[in-house]
Amino acid sequence: MHKLISLKDINTFSVEAYCEEIIYITQYNQLLKLDLPPNYKILGGGSNILITQNLHVPILLNQLKGIEVEYENKDSIQLKIASGENWHEVVLYCIEHDYGGIENLSLIPGTVGAAPVQNIGAYGVEIKDVLVSVDGIFLENNNHRTYNNEECVFGYRESIFKTKLKNSFFISSITIQLSKSNHQIQTEYGAIKSFLDSKKIYKPTIKDVSSAVIAIRQSKLPDPKLLANAGSFFKNSVISQTEFENLHTKHPNIPHFLMSNTEVKIPTAWLLEKAGWKGKQIGNVACHKDQPLVIVNCNNASGTEIYNFSELIIQDIQDKFGISLVREVNIW
Ligand code: EPU
Repeated sequence: MHKLISLKDINTFSVEAYCEEIIYITQYNQLLKLDLPPNYKILGGGSNILITQNLHVPILLNQLKGIEVEYENKDSIQLKIASGENWHEVVLYCIEHDYGGIENLSLIPGTVGAAPVQNIGAYGVEIKDVLVSVDGIFLENNNHRTYNNEECVFGYRESIFKTKLKNSFFISSITIQLSKSNHQIQTEYGAIKSFLDSKKIYKPTIKDVSSAVIAIRQSKLPDPKLLANAGSFFKNSVISQTEFENLHTKHPNIPHFLMSNTEVKIPTAWLLEKAGWKGKQIGNVACHKDQPLVIVNCNNASGTEIYNFSELIIQDIQDKFGISLVREVNIW
């Protein structure tokens, strides 16, 4: 009989649930010696999961560390980063060394290994824009494999690691390519530019962009240490052009971004606000008052309570707009 281990401190939703075994992965070679039952789970920073039950399978907790220079010339550098590193610490390391490309992805919670899984993105940049390759191992046969950028099949918050390879491939490191000179600063995303303008910064450095992103995120996204949450709970909604035209007739002010000739992206935060969910609390769960896309655990809610709250939202948005919301957070 295993002792029960609380998972409360290793999920940013701060949900109480128990497991029987956590295997801390600190060395790559450990992965070659594991004898796992099927259905084991892999956990990084615990910032994109909602645990709705006790887990009777081993949890592999990724703590692989290290940053190595893979290749370098006078203009660019490739870094190979172990998957258990904290993403934001890596961003800060890159800014300190004046390596450009991931400054817009400052302050995203979670580990490096989780970053390609959901193709993390913010303020006009996604990890796919700098990613060279992902290395890892198939745990059932110990085969090592490198996936190049194209093979990762990246989409909006999507990749092959989230679909076909889910829970079978353990990502051990990622390689990213960054600039050492002539940084391509991306400030088109409204909030960054207006923040920098307000500070009279017209030729921003990557550090300025990072500081702007940090300030913007802190102003509207709740800190999980103070108010438990897992970031955006739902994805933004991608609908067909025809569906969009119907909605646009009813809601002429609906914000929207063209994805292609046939698809339109609607901010789910707008749908939630319009439907009255912004700041709305039921029991111990609420949509955050500044950013309704973030569901918050106000007071020791269980995973099931949070899940049920999200079901109410999905039903309501379906009824009001005919849009089926997709969860961004993984449900365990
Ligand atoms: N909006 C509202 N009401 C609100 C907030 C937003 O109507 O209360 C509408 C506005 O039209 C606004 C639009 O939603 O222009 C977009 O809002 P925001 O810029 O805050 O970003 P988001 O689309 O809601 C996405 C990511 C975030 C990322 C931000 C910034 C997803 C699911 N979320 O949110 O990522 O930080 O853009 O780029 O794509 C995460 O994935 O956990 C996450 C926080």
